[in-house]
Amino acid sequence: MLKTVVCVSGGGTNLQAILDALDNGSITNVKIEAVISNNAGAKALQRAESRGIPGILMTPKAYPDRESFNAAFTEEMCRLAPDLIVLAGFLVKIPEEMVCRFDGRIINIHPSLIPSFCGVGYYGLKVHEKALERGVKVTGATVHFVNEGMDEGPIIAQKAVAVEEDDTPESLQRRVMEQAEWVLLPQAINAIANGKIRVKDGKVRCVCRMEET
Ligand code: GAR
Repeated sequence: MLKTVVCVSGGGTNLQAILDALDNGSITNVKIEAVISNNAGAKALQRAESRGIPGILMTPKAYPDRESFNAAFTEEMCRLAPDLIVLAGFLVKIPEEMVCRFDGRIINIHPSLIPSFCGVGYYGLKVHEKALERGVKVTGATVHFVNEGMDEGPIIAQKAVAVEEDDTPESLQRRVMEQAEWVLLPQAINAIANGKIRVKDGKVRCVCRMEET
């Protein structure tokens, strides 16, 4: 069983997709040990707690400076000792110390086709606003391993989504979630849990194609 911690900041629809995939058996060999949020009001925490999964609040606001938050966050993660950390809409930068300790064991979902519309300042609805502003015809989502950079780690999987003429940031966000994120993230977790994907020497090694997982 892959001991997994999911980190969230908001609505938690990606967390819900993971929980649903566990229920219907499309993710196997995974136990969600805890859900960590930086936001006390996150609906994601309620989703976790209603399933009996411990919810942990880790907010930078509760610490005098970023350094002490980073140290406490890393210490908490080490206490939980997960095999896999899933950033499912987590809007806090992962401390370098944590990246180092959990190298190759942290994955993130991002709502664009990296390297487009990613990096500092690109999160949530803003990503879709920028994609529409630029007039792209295709966008999508990416699951990638996390390294010290922002949205720069090795890519595990991507899924494209067509932009429609009358899209608003909200409608595009919803379609990217439905057609790409909620499919891709559970698939990637299942593939990792079943030894089909791993990261080695900074490169993702796929032992099989994602669709077969
Ligand atoms: C998702 O669209 C996720 O891809 C995005 O935040 C949203 C969270 O929604 N993450 C980022 O932008 C990270 N850079 P959710 O809380 O409903 O899963």
